[in-house]
Amino acid sequence: MAATDLKKVNRILENREGTSGELIEALQDVQESYNYLPEEVLRTVSERLEVPLIEVFRVANFYKSFTLKPRGKHLLTICMGTACHVRGAPKLADEVLGQLGVKPGETTEDGQFTVETVNCLGACALGPVVVLDKEYYDHMTPGKLRAIVQKVRKKSREKVKV
Ligand code: FES
Repeated sequence: MAATDLKKVNRILENREGTSGELIEALQDVQESYNYLPEEVLRTVSERLEVPLIEVFRVANFYKSFTLKPRGKHLLTICMGTACHVRGAPKLADEVLGQLGVKPGETTEDGQFTVETVNCLGACALGPVVVLDKEYYDHMTPGKLRAIVQKVRKKSREKVKV
């Protein structure tokens, strides 16, 4: 682990030691910071919080919101729950998975997008619903979704050029 990464992990853990629910909160902070839960960081979390490594992995695997695989810079979540399904979610998924050339759960080759599907995002009346980088989009259509993804992709490319 690079020195700067160790500092980052230490900062995260300093705020979590001795608090109730410290493991879950620490994992949330690690995931927020790294976009996933790197194994080497989980080892540090285990040592610092004095929680057996197997328990750290159990919690990391139990909650669907945690991931042990690196994610893309942008996380796109498509709701495939019943309410969204009947309003066209499968067409949304087909559109964006084709546009990005990935399957559900995969990350684009350029590391820009990870696409996930879930069974409900809690906004059923507004379906179909997608979430891109924590922002909810309701009444989504394949055309609108394509445009949003293109816009985000263009912005990312412009940032790289600067
Ligand atoms: S089924 Fe899509 S938000 Fe509930």
